[in-house]
Amino acid sequence: MKVQATQVPAPDEIADEWRRRAERPGLARVMRASQPAELAEGTTVRTRQLVTHHLRSLGPIGSALEIGCGMGRITPVIAAQADAVTAIDMTPRMLDLARAACAHLPGVEFRQSAVQRLPWRDKRFDVAVCVWVLMHVLDDDEIARACRAIAGAARHLVLVEYEHADIPVGRYSRLRDLDDYLALLPGSRLVERHELTYGGDRSFAALIALEDLR
Ligand SMILES: C[S@@+](CC[C@H](N)C(=O)[O-])C[C@H]1O[C@@H](n2cnc3c(N)ncnc32)[C@H](O)[C@@H]1O
Repeated sequence: MKVQATQVPAPDEIADEWRRRAERPGLARVMRASQPAELAEGTTVRTRQLVTHHLRSLGPIGSALEIGCGMGRITPVIAAQADAVTAIDMTPRMLDLARAACAHLPGVEFRQSAVQRLPWRDKRFDVAVCVWVLMHVLDDDEIARACRAIAGAARHLVLVEYEHADIPVGRYSRLRDLDDYLALLPGSRLVERHELTYGGDRSFAALIALEDLR
Protein backbone atom coordinates (compact mmCIF):
# COMPACT_ATOMS: atom_id res chain seq x y z
CA MET A 1 0.00 0.00 0.00
CA LYS A 2 3.07 2.25 -0.16
CA VAL A 3 2.50 5.19 -2.53
CA GLN A 4 5.48 6.26 -4.65
CA ALA A 5 7.03 9.43 -3.21
CA THR A 6 6.65 11.21 -6.55
CA GLN A 7 2.85 10.62 -6.51
CA VAL A 8 2.28 12.27 -3.15
CA PRO A 9 1.78 16.05 -3.40
CA ALA A 10 4.11 18.12 -1.21
CA PRO A 11 2.69 19.54 2.06
CA ASP A 12 2.46 23.08 0.58
CA GLU A 13 0.55 21.76 -2.42
CA ILE A 14 -1.89 19.92 -0.13
CA ALA A 15 -2.44 23.07 1.96
CA ASP A 16 -3.09 25.06 -1.26
CA GLU A 17 -5.62 22.48 -2.42
CA TRP A 18 -7.61 22.86 0.84
CA ARG A 19 -7.43 26.65 0.60
CA ARG A 20 -8.92 26.33 -2.90
CA ARG A 21 -11.62 23.88 -1.80
CA ALA A 22 -12.66 26.25 0.98
CA GLU A 23 -13.60 28.79 -1.74
CA ARG A 24 -16.05 26.41 -3.44
CA PRO A 25 -19.78 26.96 -2.85
CA GLY A 26 -21.75 25.08 -0.19
CA LEU A 27 -21.12 21.42 0.57
CA ALA A 28 -18.72 21.12 -2.39
CA ARG A 29 -16.11 22.52 0.01
CA VAL A 30 -16.06 19.25 1.92
CA MET A 31 -17.67 16.74 -0.47
CA ARG A 32 -17.20 15.69 -4.09
CA ALA A 33 -17.86 18.74 -6.30
CA SER A 34 -18.92 16.52 -9.23
CA GLN A 35 -21.98 15.00 -7.53
CA PRO A 36 -25.45 16.60 -7.35
CA ALA A 37 -26.30 18.93 -4.46
CA GLU A 38 -29.29 16.77 -3.38
CA LEU A 39 -26.99 13.77 -3.05
CA ALA A 40 -24.56 15.79 -0.93
CA GLU A 41 -27.42 17.00 1.29
CA GLY A 42 -28.90 13.51 1.69
CA THR A 43 -25.49 12.05 2.51
CA THR A 44 -24.91 14.82 5.04
CA VAL A 45 -28.17 13.94 6.81
CA ARG A 46 -27.21 10.25 6.89
CA THR A 47 -23.66 11.02 8.10
CA ARG A 48 -25.00 13.19 10.91
CA GLN A 49 -27.42 10.38 11.90
CA LEU A 50 -24.63 7.80 12.05
CA VAL A 51 -22.32 10.08 14.06
CA THR A 52 -25.20 10.80 16.47
CA HIS A 53 -25.97 7.08 16.77
CA HIS A 54 -22.37 6.25 17.74
CA LEU A 55 -22.08 9.19 20.16
CA ARG A 56 -25.38 8.31 21.89
CA SER A 57 -24.20 4.74 22.40
CA LEU A 58 -21.38 6.10 24.60
CA GLY A 59 -23.76 7.68 27.15
CA PRO A 60 -23.02 11.15 28.56
CA ILE A 61 -19.97 12.76 26.89
CA GLY A 62 -17.96 15.42 28.71
CA SER A 63 -15.39 16.34 26.08
CA ALA A 64 -15.27 15.67 22.34
CA LEU A 65 -12.55 16.41 19.81
CA GLU A 66 -13.57 16.94 16.20
CA ILE A 67 -10.67 16.33 13.85
CA GLY A 68 -10.80 18.13 10.49
CA CYS A 69 -14.06 19.99 11.14
CA GLY A 70 -14.04 21.69 7.72
CA MET A 71 -16.90 24.19 7.40
CA GLY A 72 -18.60 22.83 10.56
CA ARG A 73 -20.92 20.41 8.73
CA ILE A 74 -20.83 17.79 11.53
CA THR A 75 -19.94 20.01 14.52
CA PRO A 76 -23.55 20.79 15.62
CA VAL A 77 -24.46 17.12 16.07
CA ILE A 78 -21.33 16.55 18.15
CA ALA A 79 -22.18 19.63 20.26
CA ALA A 80 -25.69 18.19 20.79
CA GLN A 81 -24.18 15.12 22.50
CA ALA A 82 -21.14 16.54 24.35
CA ASP A 83 -20.72 19.17 27.08
CA ALA A 84 -17.67 20.64 25.32
CA VAL A 85 -16.32 20.30 21.77
CA THR A 86 -12.87 21.24 20.56
CA ALA A 87 -12.77 21.28 16.76
CA ILE A 88 -9.51 21.38 14.84
CA ASP A 89 -8.69 21.81 11.17
CA MET A 90 -5.45 22.66 9.38
CA THR A 91 -7.10 25.15 6.96
CA PRO A 92 -7.70 28.65 8.39
CA ARG A 93 -10.47 29.51 5.92
CA MET A 94 -12.37 26.31 6.80
CA LEU A 95 -12.10 27.27 10.48
CA ASP A 96 -13.50 30.75 9.72
CA LEU A 97 -16.50 29.14 7.98
CA ALA A 98 -17.01 26.70 10.87
CA ARG A 99 -16.79 29.48 13.48
CA ALA A 100 -19.44 31.47 11.61
CA ALA A 101 -21.71 28.41 11.14
CA CYS A 102 -21.43 27.41 14.82
CA ALA A 103 -21.41 30.85 16.47
CA HIS A 104 -24.75 30.05 18.15
CA LEU A 105 -23.47 26.87 19.81
CA PRO A 106 -22.27 27.06 23.42
CA GLY A 107 -19.26 24.98 24.47
CA VAL A 108 -17.57 24.77 21.07
CA GLU A 109 -14.06 26.06 20.42
CA PHE A 110 -12.02 25.98 17.22
CA ARG A 111 -8.29 25.69 16.83
CA GLN A 112 -5.91 25.40 13.91
CA SER A 113 -3.93 22.16 13.98
CA ALA A 114 -2.95 19.26 11.79
CA VAL A 115 -4.11 15.86 13.06
CA GLN A 116 -0.52 14.62 12.91
CA ARG A 117 0.52 17.34 15.37
CA LEU A 118 -2.27 17.63 17.95
CA PRO A 119 -1.22 20.22 20.54
CA TRP A 120 -2.05 18.25 23.74
CA ARG A 121 0.35 16.08 25.71
CA ASP A 122 -1.78 14.83 28.61
CA LYS A 123 -5.36 15.61 27.65
CA ARG A 124 -7.57 12.66 26.73
CA PHE A 125 -10.97 13.48 25.23
CA ASP A 126 -13.92 11.13 25.83
CA VAL A 127 -14.31 10.78 22.09
CA ALA A 128 -12.77 12.00 18.84
CA VAL A 129 -14.87 12.34 15.67
CA CYS A 130 -13.12 12.28 12.32
CA VAL A 131 -15.17 12.38 9.11
CA TRP A 132 -13.42 12.08 5.72
CA VAL A 133 -10.12 13.52 6.91
CA LEU A 134 -7.65 10.64 7.30
CA MET A 135 -8.17 9.71 3.63
CA HIS A 136 -6.46 13.03 2.88
CA VAL A 137 -3.35 12.17 4.89
CA LEU A 138 -1.48 10.56 2.02
CA ASP A 139 2.00 9.76 3.24
CA ASP A 140 2.63 6.46 5.11
CA ASP A 141 4.66 8.05 7.91
CA GLU A 142 2.19 10.93 8.32
CA ILE A 143 -0.86 8.65 8.59
CA ALA A 144 0.96 6.51 11.16
CA ARG A 145 1.78 9.67 13.12
CA ALA A 146 -1.83 10.91 12.84
CA CYS A 147 -3.25 7.61 14.12
CA ARG A 148 -0.82 7.54 17.06
CA ALA A 149 -1.83 11.11 17.91
CA ILE A 150 -5.55 10.23 17.85
CA ALA A 151 -5.06 7.08 19.95
CA GLY A 152 -3.20 9.18 22.53
CA ALA A 153 -5.82 11.93 22.58
CA ALA A 154 -9.16 10.09 22.94
CA ARG A 155 -10.87 7.09 24.57
CA HIS A 156 -13.11 6.42 21.58
CA LEU A 157 -13.07 7.35 17.93
CA VAL A 158 -15.99 7.78 15.54
CA LEU A 159 -14.32 7.34 12.16
CA VAL A 160 -15.95 7.84 8.76
CA GLU A 161 -13.78 7.12 5.73
CA TYR A 162 -14.16 5.94 2.12
CA GLU A 163 -13.37 2.30 1.45
CA HIS A 164 -14.49 2.20 -2.16
CA ALA A 165 -15.03 4.82 -4.88
CA ASP A 166 -16.51 4.21 -8.36
CA ILE A 167 -15.13 7.51 -9.63
CA PRO A 168 -11.35 7.87 -9.09
CA VAL A 169 -10.73 9.96 -5.98
CA GLY A 170 -7.79 11.96 -7.35
CA ARG A 171 -4.33 12.65 -5.99
CA TYR A 172 -5.42 14.34 -2.75
CA SER A 173 -7.20 11.27 -1.41
CA ARG A 174 -6.10 7.77 -0.55
CA LEU A 175 -8.53 4.96 0.21
CA ARG A 176 -7.80 2.60 3.08
CA ASP A 177 -9.95 -0.15 4.63
CA LEU A 178 -11.24 -0.02 8.19
CA ASP A 179 -8.79 -2.87 8.95
CA ASP A 180 -5.91 -0.65 7.76
CA TYR A 181 -6.97 2.04 10.24
CA LEU A 182 -7.42 -0.47 13.08
CA ALA A 183 -3.86 -1.68 12.42
CA LEU A 184 -2.57 1.92 12.47
CA LEU A 185 -4.41 2.93 15.68
CA PRO A 186 -2.52 1.59 18.72
CA GLY A 187 -4.79 -0.13 21.29
CA SER A 188 -7.85 0.04 19.02
CA ARG A 189 -10.87 -2.30 19.05
CA LEU A 190 -13.84 -2.11 16.69
CA VAL A 191 -17.12 -1.67 18.59
CA GLU A 192 -19.62 -1.15 15.76
CA ARG A 193 -19.60 -0.50 12.04
CA HIS A 194 -22.18 0.82 9.56
CA GLU A 195 -22.05 1.40 5.82
CA LEU A 196 -22.54 4.82 4.26
CA THR A 197 -23.07 4.88 0.50
CA TYR A 198 -22.74 8.07 -1.51
CA GLY A 199 -23.43 7.80 -5.27
CA GLY A 200 -21.12 4.97 -6.35
CA ASP A 201 -18.93 5.49 -3.28
CA ARG A 202 -18.96 3.45 -0.07
CA SER A 203 -17.69 4.66 3.29
CA PHE A 204 -17.72 3.03 6.69
CA ALA A 205 -18.90 4.77 9.87
CA ALA A 206 -17.19 3.00 12.75
CA LEU A 207 -17.11 3.33 16.50
CA ILE A 208 -13.67 2.34 17.77
CA ALA A 209 -12.54 1.97 21.40
CA LEU A 210 -9.01 3.20 22.16
CA GLU A 211 -7.16 1.68 25.09
CA ASP A 212 -4.92 4.02 27.10
CA LEU A 213 -1.43 2.67 26.39
CA ARG A 214 0.51 5.52 28.06
C1 LIG B 1 -13.40 16.42 3.16
S1 LIG B 1 -13.21 17.70 4.34
C2 LIG B 1 -14.25 17.08 5.65
C3 LIG B 1 -14.64 18.11 6.66
C4 LIG B 1 -15.61 17.64 7.75
N1 LIG B 1 -15.05 16.58 8.55
C5 LIG B 1 -16.92 17.19 7.14
O1 LIG B 1 -17.14 15.98 7.07
O2 LIG B 1 -17.66 18.04 6.69
C6 LIG B 1 -11.60 17.47 4.99
C7 LIG B 1 -11.14 18.54 5.97
O3 LIG B 1 -9.97 18.04 6.61
C8 LIG B 1 -9.02 19.08 6.68
N2 LIG B 1 -7.72 18.39 6.70
C9 LIG B 1 -7.12 17.73 5.68
N3 LIG B 1 -5.98 17.20 6.10
C10 LIG B 1 -5.85 17.52 7.41
C11 LIG B 1 -4.86 17.29 8.41
N4 LIG B 1 -3.76 16.58 8.11
N5 LIG B 1 -5.05 17.77 9.65
C12 LIG B 1 -6.16 18.51 9.94
N6 LIG B 1 -7.11 18.80 9.04
C13 LIG B 1 -6.96 18.30 7.80
C14 LIG B 1 -9.26 19.96 5.47
O4 LIG B 1 -8.80 21.27 5.72
C15 LIG B 1 -10.78 19.87 5.36
O5 LIG B 1 -11.39 20.90 6.07
